[in-house]
Amino acid sequence: MINKIQTLSGYFYDYQKSVQDPEHFWSRIADAFYWHKRWDKVVEWDFDGPDVKWFKNAKLNITENILERHLFLLGDKPAIIWEPNDPKEDNRTISYKELYEMVCQFSNTLKENGVEKGDRVIIYMPMVPETAVAMLACARIGAVHSVVFAGFSSQSLADRINDCEAKMVLTSDGNYRGDKKIEVKSVVDEALKSTSTVEKVIVYQRTGQEVTMTEGRDIWWHDAIEGVSTENKAEIMDSEDMLFILYTSGSTGKPKGVVHTCGGYMVYSCYSFQNVFQYNQGDVYWCTADVGWITGHSYIVYGPLLAGATTIMYEGVPTYPNPGRFWEICDKYQVNQFYTAPTAIRALQAYGAEVLKPYKLDSLRVLGSVGEPINEEAWHWYHDHVGKGRCPVVDTWWQTETGGILVSPIASVTPTKPSYATLPLPGVQLAILDNDGNELKGNSVEGNLCVKFPWPSILRTTYGDHDRCKQTYFSSFKGYYFTGDGVKRDEDGYYRILGRVDDVINVSGHRMGTAEVENAINEHPKVVESAVVGYPHDIKGQGIYAFVICDMEGRSEENLKQEIRVTVSKIIGPIAKPDKIQIVPGLPKTRSGKIMRRILRKIASGDTENLGDTSTLLNPDVVDDIRENVI
Ligand code: WTA
Repeated sequence: MINKIQTLSGYFYDYQKSVQDPEHFWSRIADAFYWHKRWDKVVEWDFDGPDVKWFKNAKLNITENILERHLFLLGDKPAIIWEPNDPKEDNRTISYKELYEMVCQFSNTLKENGVEKGDRVIIYMPMVPETAVAMLACARIGAVHSVVFAGFSSQSLADRINDCEAKMVLTSDGNYRGDKKIEVKSVVDEALKSTSTVEKVIVYQRTGQEVTMTEGRDIWWHDAIEGVSTENKAEIMDSEDMLFILYTSGSTGKPKGVVHTCGGYMVYSCYSFQNVFQYNQGDVYWCTADVGWITGHSYIVYGPLLAGATTIMYEGVPTYPNPGRFWEICDKYQVNQFYTAPTAIRALQAYGAEVLKPYKLDSLRVLGSVGEPINEEAWHWYHDHVGKGRCPVVDTWWQTETGGILVSPIASVTPTKPSYATLPLPGVQLAILDNDGNELKGNSVEGNLCVKFPWPSILRTTYGDHDRCKQTYFSSFKGYYFTGDGVKRDEDGYYRILGRVDDVINVSGHRMGTAEVENAINEHPKVVESAVVGYPHDIKGQGIYAFVICDMEGRSEENLKQEIRVTVSKIIGPIAKPDKIQIVPGLPKTRSGKIMRRILRKIASGDTENLGDTSTLLNPDVVDDIRENVI
């Protein structure tokens, strides 16, 4: 087991060691895992490539570290507790031994259906234990999984299938979310009309709704596993073999496939989990994310299971059947560590603290926050009302690309400060750069958040396009990984994340590229041009504000706006629907034809007075019109 940091001086000691001698530091942590062959070198790196290798030439299988490694001592311990959407339905508890059998059986099933080491498998499934089983079975046979959030549209799904040339799709008939039953299989059917690489689709039966099964291609999960052996020998993987691809939005173009590899991701997801949350054997841990996002990968599935933890998987939404559901689940399973997003906290806060009254919440020890900056009000509400002032709030900053938490308090070790992610984890060497690329030393500085030394779970590439990885993350500031976030280091050396400095907006903790949303809006035949910006939103953190130039002929403004929303929903998914749409006669442009987003951002956030000098614009008049009609 990994030795946990226990005191603040212990943290500072470890941090110092990790910078002085990273190889020694990480090799001691990696020694807690089972490797078929030890590494020749701990780390080899060059951010110019970028070319990063951790635990070079080591051999392992991550699922042996989750399953075989835990069977002897923890075989009967719950690995996954599943709480269904509907509290009246039975829950499920899956022990490590049962998980082992399920994963082995499904590994064999994948193989029988033609999946081989290196093949890509798309997982488009609801929050059920089988989704975790599917991920682990892929990892066990060396196939590369790519989980796609089951709220994405058929077109988004098709784009991802095509980008990674997936051979198989794992899905379900439908999905429950609150009082809604959501189509899932039919979305896959639609997506597969514009893809050519998928040979088989395995369908998990969840809702029992009617679906079309294509003969020779589609098989029910329960039929596929029937009679299949529950023993499977794990594929021996190289430390740098691909473990998974996860698509995420950036400031330009289509979402890119962030690639994580086996060895480094294993070590870092487990190390960060154990330390940040101070997980002790016997604790019950719950992260409310969806496995379609990186938080679900690292802190519902891999991190906790590598640590031999009991991890809760909740299928539903925070407010169904009532806004006390989260707290009811916390009491029901005596949750010790609870990890959620600021947007959920704000949404529940809006119902008032009375909602919490019927619940004891006395098992809670640690409260986590992730996905977006947490405002002070939400931080205090979480700390005072949910944690009753007893539980440290760990505000964890990280990204799909970082694979694990990079900046966060260590629970009960690092003194917290509202809205501050506080200090980097050991091994994480942060740097704040000004726009000219100068590193700002000392405290009380603000700038672009970068990292100057690799940590084990840094992304290795973007799938199929290494140059894009280089351009996006390693070219803005030579020799540094650039996060895209702005940050402040205060007088105590504490870090506060200020939000994105690029054209990415963060809506309810979901990353959205403004260009991506604009492209979707522009698909509507009546749209001439559009510009999308984020604006402050009470619950979502940021909302999507779209300025659209339209050919209005024969349409009412309201109808057109509705059609635009439907278009975006169809092309990306409901999460990308603009909150506000303003039909405008033109967009403010520079003389070279570039949209001045700075001005639009100000107008959208209600700051219509201090727009700065607009006289150099190509069309200064439109600014007045936009300003007067702001929503
Ligand atoms: C934002 C989610 C402030 C940030 C794990 C980052 C945060 C982006 C925090 C990554 C936090 C995440 N405080 N901002 N604690 N956590 N972010 O890839 O802008 O979905 O760049 O990963 O979310 O989003 P992603």
